Amino acid sequence: MMEVSHASLNHGDLNDARSGRVPPGAVLGSDAAGVVTQAAADGTGPAVGTRVVAMAPGAFAERVAVDVTALAPVPASVDLAVAAALPVAGLAALRSLRAAGLSREKRVLVTGASGGVGLFAVQLATHAGAYVIASVGSAARAEGPARAGASEVLIGLEGLSMSPDIVIDSVGGPQLVQAWDKLAPGGSLQSVGWTSGEPAVFPPYATVGPAKSLNSFLNQGEFGGDLATLIQLVTEGALTVEIGWRGSLEQVAEAAKALRERRVSGKAILAIGSAETEASVVGR
Ligand SMILES: NC(=O)c1ccc[n+]([C@@H]2O[C@H](COP(=O)([O-])OP(=O)(O)OC[C@H]3O[C@@H](n4cnc5c(N)ncnc54)[C@H](OP(=O)(O)O)[C@@H]3O)[C@@H](O)[C@H]2O)c1
Repeated sequence: MMEVSHASLNHGDLNDARSGRVPPGAVLGSDAAGVVTQAAADGTGPAVGTRVVAMAPGAFAERVAVDVTALAPVPASVDLAVAAALPVAGLAALRSLRAAGLSREKRVLVTGASGGVGLFAVQLATHAGAYVIASVGSAARAEGPARAGASEVLIGLEGLSMSPDIVIDSVGGPQLVQAWDKLAPGGSLQSVGWTSGEPAVFPPYATVGPAKSLNSFLNQGEFGGDLATLIQLVTEGALTVEIGWRGSLEQVAEAAKALRERRVSGKAILAIGSAETEASVVGR
């Protein structure tokens, strides 16, 4: 059991709230950071008082029970607000890049690059030494990915001049079709999300040609090991968490509005049961 001090709001939480797949009355949220208040009875988890980050269904709560395989310790040098940003978006970025076979000689295209998954994917691919092309929706959204180390930042995909070996796509719709068209032979497109909400219409024969793959992606399995990797990267300064909105859990509707309106660069962080009450879109 952990006492949650911070949670982050994900696009997936908005989907959960709207879709009906989470039953009425259930607590939303997936990303939690805080302190262990009760250790696992079988002695396998961290001790009471340990600072932890977790993939925790029902994270928007003061206390949440967490599987010991879904958490990682957070050193004192890492702010719990920063740690809370990592689970859903950080794991999706790390694991989709891994599934696509990331290596330093690869050209990586990241769509939705100013968002949670996107900004982490840009940084992780850059850290691996890859050439990273970030695609955003407008000029105003280009700053984050540029700061995160992208080799190029494009508005949409019109200006894409080279064929990427890897695409991390969180936008879907027409952009997915365009990205697929540009994907190099042997390449891998990881379909991580679909923020556009638009259908993807492939022209005839778009999927006929030299072999390349379109892969569906889902965060699943055990998360503790990869959460520890993300925390380690933050500790080393190789991964920076951009917090584009912060406020309290009571202001979650405001955070959701900012996320829907594409005003959050990076992550939205909610303080739970703490003194942090002023909502703010950071740096805007
Ligand atoms: N499969 C998984 O396990 C998994 C895990 C995490 C997330 N996801 C999914 O991945 C997607 C992104 O999640 P996130 O947390 O990174 O979301 P986010 O922080 O809200 O970022 C989404 C980005 O997509 C772009 N975008 C938003 N609406 C758009 C639209 N109508 N058309 C085109 N671009 C749009 C925005 O960039 P611009 O404003 O620059 O266009 C925004 O920065 C969501 O669909 C989420 O459900 C899936």
